[in-house]
Amino acid sequence: MTPKPSSASNPPPRIVVLGSLNMDLVLRVPHAPAAGETLQGHSIATIPGGKGANQAVSCAREGAQVRMIGCVGDDAHGTALRNALEQDGIDTAMLRTVAGEPTGTALILVEDSGQNRIVIVPGANARVELDEAALKQQVQGAAFLVTQFETPMDQVARAIAVAHGAGCKVLLNPSPVQPIADALWPRIDTLVVNEIEAQTLCGQAADTPQQAAQAGQALRAKGIARVVVTLGARGAVAVDADGARHHPAPKVQAVDTTAAGDTFLGALAVALGEGQPFDDAVRLGIRAAALCIQQPGAQPSIPRRDAVLQSPLPPDWTAL
Ligand code: RIB
Repeated sequence: MTPKPSSASNPPPRIVVLGSLNMDLVLRVPHAPAAGETLQGHSIATIPGGKGANQAVSCAREGAQVRMIGCVGDDAHGTALRNALEQDGIDTAMLRTVAGEPTGTALILVEDSGQNRIVIVPGANARVELDEAALKQQVQGAAFLVTQFETPMDQVARAIAVAHGAGCKVLLNPSPVQPIADALWPRIDTLVVNEIEAQTLCGQAADTPQQAAQAGQALRAKGIARVVVTLGARGAVAVDADGARHHPAPKVQAVDTTAAGDTFLGALAVALGEGQPFDDAVRLGIRAAALCIQQPGAQPSIPRRDAVLQSPLPPDWTAL
């Protein structure tokens, strides 16, 4: 089924994103250097990124009304990242500039294969402190609170509790992966994890679609309504009360996989917020991510909804 875009009678979903903003220093290299190896790279670029900001941009380009909660430093990168979000129409009223802290930075090596390796220095992201009353006001009536683990865990946990208490669904991307406290699981509506995150959180391998289905069921048993295990070029496995389905990805030439997961997540969140069925939302996310990996960089590679709808349909899903 082709997802329906929002219309005047069906206003765009409102999504609140709590998360990181990084300036990505992207080095294109033939391959990742081994220990002790000195390598000549192809190029260097400075590109807006950060998992939280990328997911906010993906939600906005899919047509949602987005508010970003996070921190940047009082430096040129912070100004550039704030401006980048505002150019996408994202509300930055709850984006705090922290004096004396550098803006978050990610050093990203992109190999000729399109695979990447990322080192993050959190900087101002580590200074996120929630204003619970303001957050409560924001999440009331919102389709989702979207969050990840690149900001302090205690603040993420508080935000999840506030959103859940206010009746707002929580979409969590636990990346970089860390253990999740028992009390947090039942407050999460939708969990999006890759193979490694799934395995870390449930102790079961999630490399094949069948394994991902089992891992997804194990994660659901912790109290979550829906789980998506993303499998890179092999697509994703969607798990809910009706069982598990493998959604393959279209075959494309990867230029840079940075922000593919963030792009997927934004498209998924908006489609779910519009009331699209879970499988349609996953399919839309896969199409968006397939477009993302064909372009270099994080935020510049995130497609808009109209481009996603014009992109090739992936193969049909199969029940697992
Ligand atoms: O998910 C991709 C992002 O991870 C990059 O933009 C980088 O900033 C890191 O946060």
